[in-house]
Amino acid sequence: MTIGIAIAGCGAAVPSTSLNNHQLSQLVETSDEWISSRTGIRERRIAAPDRSLASLATEAGEKAIAMAGLTAADIDLIVLATSTADDLFGSASQVQAQLGATRAVAFDLTAACSGFVFGLVTASQFIRTGVYRNVLLVGADILSRWVDWDDRRTCVLFGDGAGAVVLQASDRDRLLGFEMCSDGTQNGCLNVAYQSQPRPLIDNITVARGQYLPIIMSGQEVYKFAVKKVPEVVEKALFRANLTSDRLNWLLLHQANQRILDAVAKRLNIPDEKVLSNLGNYGNTSAASIPLVLDEAVRQGKIQPGDLLAISGFGAGLTWGAAILEWGQ
Ligand code: ACO
Repeated sequence: MTIGIAIAGCGAAVPSTSLNNHQLSQLVETSDEWISSRTGIRERRIAAPDRSLASLATEAGEKAIAMAGLTAADIDLIVLATSTADDLFGSASQVQAQLGATRAVAFDLTAACSGFVFGLVTASQFIRTGVYRNVLLVGADILSRWVDWDDRRTCVLFGDGAGAVVLQASDRDRLLGFEMCSDGTQNGCLNVAYQSQPRPLIDNITVARGQYLPIIMSGQEVYKFAVKKVPEVVEKALFRANLTSDRLNWLLLHQANQRILDAVAKRLNIPDEKVLSNLGNYGNTSAASIPLVLDEAVRQGKIQPGDLLAISGFGAGLTWGAAILEWGQ
């Protein structure tokens, strides 16, 4: 018998400081009108210097575990989807320690804005095979630390946050289909690149001692990629679920840009009222954006047990993916 997968709880955490478009226009040559009309973003949350990625992820995780009616000691595995770990070696173990999830093994997963969808699929494999029963998946990013605050083309887009779900073994399978894709030939569209400085050691041996540069993005290329590939990948995930888009109750896309959300929904023939969006308040929070919008809609009572959801992430790599879920335990 196949072991099913259900989402037993969700949670979110955002920094308390917000930065609106008017404030940003004091920093770079831009305007609320430009940012709102091109992206739909009005404000974003910014993590204070002493706020760690692990603490944001932990706060979101605690809420998800509480909603699931579990304690941290019930968690078998923690997957932290992030591109902005506090430590290049990863932050998942710190989340495990801060939660007091004494039985859990924890690791980071990096797939930029596709991280939550890729993490969901990864975590699900451990449940399907019977290895683990309760998995905490957190999507968290603090991109404000990697943005060039002098570059108006990118600094207006991003914000900080964390969202989490508890995935649980279930008699009824609620992960109905998924599809994941990568295309490294387009890697140069969106990067936080490592700039190498050669440092000679001895004789003919030289190592690199460099630094990571701020985010660079080819906005129009990313836009074209998203509006073409996201509808395709949602269709493929629907096909695997043996469903069509008219059966969906909600579309939860990575919250990059309202124009991308509108264009993807139109191509999928999904009416606006089924498209969840909170990017106006949070901007693009990378791996956190899907669980942030999910948690908001669940706590507002919009998403109800039995509802069918399509989630889709897309971003650097390039990577993109989608999953079809039925809400409920
Ligand atoms: N304020 C005012 N003017 C600006 C700003 C700004 N913040 N940013 C760019 N401009 C100017 C440009 O300099 C340019 O001026 P010019 O014509 O004098 O050279 C003009 O506006 C148009 O610039 P474009 O880059 O062509 O603007 P576009 O309409 O493509 O909008 C945007 C830019 C919003 C970034 C769009 O391309 C987009 O949404 N792309 C997708 C990006 C995205 O979603 N990335 C994240 C996904 S992956 C992930 O989440 C990590």
